[in-house]
Amino acid sequence: MKKYNYKKVRNQVAALVKRASDSPDNFYQETVWRYHILPVVEHSIKLGKILKADLEVLELSALLHDVAAITDKKYIPDHHRHGAKMAGKILSGLALPEEKIVKIKNCILNHRGSKSRPRLSLEEKILASADAMSHFTELADMMFLVYGIHKLKTREGAIWLKGKLERSWKKIMPAGRQLIRDNYMAAMKILDKAVIKK
Ligand SMILES: [Fe+2]
Ligand SMILES: [Fe+2]
Repeated sequence: MKKYNYKKVRNQVAALVKRASDSPDNFYQETVWRYHILPVVEHSIKLGKILKADLEVLELSALLHDVAAITDKKYIPDHHRHGAKMAGKILSGLALPEEKIVKIKNCILNHRGSKSRPRLSLEEKILASADAMSHFTELADMMFLVYGIHKLKTREGAIWLKGKLERSWKKIMPAGRQLIRDNYMAAMKILDKAVIKK
């Protein structure tokens, strides 16, 4: 196998995703880097260490998992498929070994709970869990999505977000649920209070 400098690859990928996040073309706005991408990286690595997964595959998958969605609004509905393709191109250009690229592409392709594809590898399961965990640990950013971007009113936004968080919770593996159970309880308490008011 050709020798590669992982740190260099990681830094180049991070710079590229941060640039996409900062771009005015990013529909979700620049907060996505700090409040979504980096927390997904952090959760992925934490779970990866507990479950002894490939941390390089996880870190690069987490950095790139939403790259298509933040690059162009038209990719959002199918961002798992576009993102896998984009990641393949980016990583081949950085001379990452082909077998790692294949694993990363599969992680990105299968990261979405709403698209019920079977998740085969440990890394695929971890990335999907980490993505869903970020919805609980970054509740303020979910509020920004609901009220700032989608412009919903208080109660309708709370109903939508509660449904979304219930789906996210089901997506998270037991080791992940254990890490964020307090956030889950707090989020549901806040949202229930808003939903109950008629
Ligand atoms: Fe996504
Ligand atoms: Fe995501």
